[in-house]
Amino acid sequence: MKDFILNYPSNILKKDITYQILNDSKSISFHRTFKNYKKSPLYKLSALSNFLKISKLYVKDESNRFGLDSFKVLGGSYAVNQILKNKPKVSIFCTATDGNHGKGLAWSAKKYKKKCIVYVPKNTSKQRIKSISELGASVEQLEMNYEDTCKYAAKISFKMNWELVQDASWDNYELIPAYIMSGYLTHFIEMEENINKIKQPDLDIVIIQCGVGSWAASCIWYYLSRYGKNKPKIVLVEPEESCGVYQSLNENKRISPKGNLSTIMAGLNCGIPSKSAWEIIKRGCDGVIKITDAEVMSAMNLFYKPLSDDSKIISGESGAAGLAGLIKCIKDKKLKKIKDHIGLNKDSRVLIFNSEGKTDINSFSKIVEK
Ligand SMILES: Cc1ncc(COP(=O)(O)O)c(C=O)c1O
Repeated sequence: MKDFILNYPSNILKKDITYQILNDSKSISFHRTFKNYKKSPLYKLSALSNFLKISKLYVKDESNRFGLDSFKVLGGSYAVNQILKNKPKVSIFCTATDGNHGKGLAWSAKKYKKKCIVYVPKNTSKQRIKSISELGASVEQLEMNYEDTCKYAAKISFKMNWELVQDASWDNYELIPAYIMSGYLTHFIEMEENINKIKQPDLDIVIIQCGVGSWAASCIWYYLSRYGKNKPKIVLVEPEESCGVYQSLNENKRISPKGNLSTIMAGLNCGIPSKSAWEIIKRGCDGVIKITDAEVMSAMNLFYKPLSDDSKIISGESGAAGLAGLIKCIKDKKLKKIKDHIGLNKDSRVLIFNSEGKTDINSFSKIVEK
């Protein structure tokens, strides 16, 4: 199987509930009310862009959002706020997670003095479990993969009348994932003071990693609704062993990934793509690239040991996937078709995201610090 797939955006956005919620998002005004709110940094890595022979390389660094090491809290916190506006008596929030979303939800529930119950799949590391419990949530590890853990959390929440805050949607569960996606809009809006200019972005290509696809869909929705056909090209990156969006695009229907689901990129090791994210992704992305663990490990090192005067960036396994995808696209001749498809060349201005810091310190130091 090829390491990439091309897609041709159609620019059509369905006027459904997800569309409405994204359209009505007040996420940035909400996030600005937090005491420790600070726009996350946008770095320009000039030495690395010279090395990669592109014009500009920007990195939006989410390794320290609200002290939680990942962007995911932007979604969970906004969803909790929206839910409580309509249902102030909710007392228990529940979710399934491979780490970062659970941390974000635990932190948000604590803010409102609510309980939080988090289920994690069998391969979640002790360190990730500990970080969620330290935020006051009760965490239970199940002998299941991520997708089945989500089903379990949904079933028990329904039975116990807990409020499920899942970052993926399925039939008849679309409202809360849409709140989460509209919470993610904050960090795209933050770049309006820099590269996301009013009429045209100072940007040609966005490369963004994906798990269930909610975050990438939020990115696509943002650029499509702001710039229409002038949007930058958007390419998604997935781990080879867990590439549900790639395989769904390949079969032209939403399916669970068929790989062995064994990758160090825990945040991207998900199951079937989110239903509402899939609707946006298939209409708006320009392609998908698959990467290996070895490729992401070398990207983590490149962030941590920067060239020349570039900023040093602390990036976890899922965090560095966008950089790994960009490097693969530039260096690997087998990806020439996608490189041409998105017009990646010496004049390109590229945006990538560091979506997490050292969320598993043990793993991070094995890969990078030693
Ligand atoms: C660090 C990190 N990056 C990217 C993603 C992908 O987000 P999504 O699952 O919405 O595709 C996740 C998901 O948990 C994550 O934790």
